[in-house]
Amino acid sequence: MHLPNYQEARKRVAKDYQRVAFSFDRHIQGKYKGKKFYLKTYGCQMNEHDSENIEALLVYLGFIKTADYHQADLVLLNTCSIRENAHNKAFGMLGRVKHLKGQRPDLLVGICGCMAQEASVVDKILADYPWVNFVLGTHNLYQLPNILDKAIEEEKQQIEVFSKEGDLVEGIPVIRANSFKAYVNIIYGCNKFCTYCIVPYTRGSERSRRKEDILKEVDELIQDGYKEITLLGQNVNAYGKDLYEDYTLGNLLEDIAKKDIPRIRFMTSHPWDFTDHMIEVIGKYSNIMPSVHLPVQSGSSKILRLMGRRYTREDYLKLFHQIKKVVPNVCISTDIIVGFPGETEEDFLETLSLVEECKFDNAFTFIFSKREGTPACKLDDFVPLAEKEERLQRLNQVVNSYFLQNNLALVDQVVPVLVEGLSEKKENMYFGYSDTNKLINFTCNHKIMVGDIVLVRITSAKTWSLDGEEVE
Ligand code: SAH
Ligand code: SF4
Ligand code: F3S
Repeated sequence: MHLPNYQEARKRVAKDYQRVAFSFDRHIQGKYKGKKFYLKTYGCQMNEHDSENIEALLVYLGFIKTADYHQADLVLLNTCSIRENAHNKAFGMLGRVKHLKGQRPDLLVGICGCMAQEASVVDKILADYPWVNFVLGTHNLYQLPNILDKAIEEEKQQIEVFSKEGDLVEGIPVIRANSFKAYVNIIYGCNKFCTYCIVPYTRGSERSRRKEDILKEVDELIQDGYKEITLLGQNVNAYGKDLYEDYTLGNLLEDIAKKDIPRIRFMTSHPWDFTDHMIEVIGKYSNIMPSVHLPVQSGSSKILRLMGRRYTREDYLKLFHQIKKVVPNVCISTDIIVGFPGETEEDFLETLSLVEECKFDNAFTFIFSKREGTPACKLDDFVPLAEKEERLQRLNQVVNSYFLQNNLALVDQVVPVLVEGLSEKKENMYFGYSDTNKLINFTCNHKIMVGDIVLVRITSAKTWSLDGEEVE
């Protein structure tokens, strides 16, 4: 048994991580043929991509996927720790699964993902959920086949969570959710330790994949006909720093942009590591999408300091305007937290005024959620919840009004759209995403395929989407 420990997880050692190639244990291939698994994914794109690995690992064992957990022989929850409601959702699901397990004691139940890295969660599972068959951390996800097999063979709860990252494993099999859009991990972990955030504890230190490994994966995706790749990391802008003297995200983006791939995206960017070179590269290549997710968190320099974000309001605005200036037609989206401990009405008004200046194209807004073990958890929090909720509402009104305003400005323009599917509502209606990552519902009178990139004239705008018609 390996239990999680934050003291250990906080330690960062500069080390050249061993790159190891994934290999299967052949003796368990197909061992559980015909059994069904139900996999529920919470959280960010990183978790979604991990679930694509999980699916492939389970299929190797012989499992097949089911979308109905009542039908499953294995229920696996790939969890997220970022806010309390993510926790609550996973525990709510566990409650429903407990009921099922009562009827079918041979049902297997596993927990992986970020919550598995939290000592308090694992303690709770040990104390109150003895019927959970296994818990697996984020650093050893690739061991899933063996740990699952052990849980079944030994009929004993398995808790295998490493607090510190080990080797960087290449070549974990993957079954991608989509046949034309793909996620590619470029850097794991986060060293920023924003004071509210649990990710540096659950995902470990920043570890970049080697550029050769990334470029090889991209080449394979191109060969397989993929049209869009999204480079993933908690902070992609730190790419390469732990590995190379002078090869950064700007270089990687440029190397990928020279390949025959129509669309390249990347997320998430921390403002701290955004260089002029990166901005230049994004502006220079037409296949790097003009869409940047640049979380600001707060418009108050005082709160930003308490959050440990390493930039001021002015730094952020300077960077924001620089990107707008250099990258043609760029759309910038953001994340904002309200009600951080110590946030006064004046601080909040600074956030509103920053939003008014930036007029973001999209924004994910949250109420601060205390995460056990993070520094912000210990700060005095004097703002009542009702006031935080009210701030969130006020903020949402303002951000939403800019989404609509920006969308209205696109009416009559022609934009490229990657076709994602047929609309369920009407015949000849399709939907897809523009280069700037806006959802477009459009009509088309001739046959087009999912994965095609077509030109669409925008006819009308809503807050969250646009309508249009394909132009031939
Ligand atoms: N790595 C990304 C963010 C990942 S988490 C970055 O730094 O940009 C996604 C968003 O969740 C964050 O940007 C932040 O706005 C929000 N978030 C993280 N921890 C939170 C907490 N404790 N309470 C509320 N929101 C939080
Ligand atoms: Fe969390 Fe900050 Fe790292 Fe983003 S940069 S994952 S908010 S610690
Ligand atoms: Fe959640 Fe972990 Fe992602 S905490 S947001 S699943 S990195």
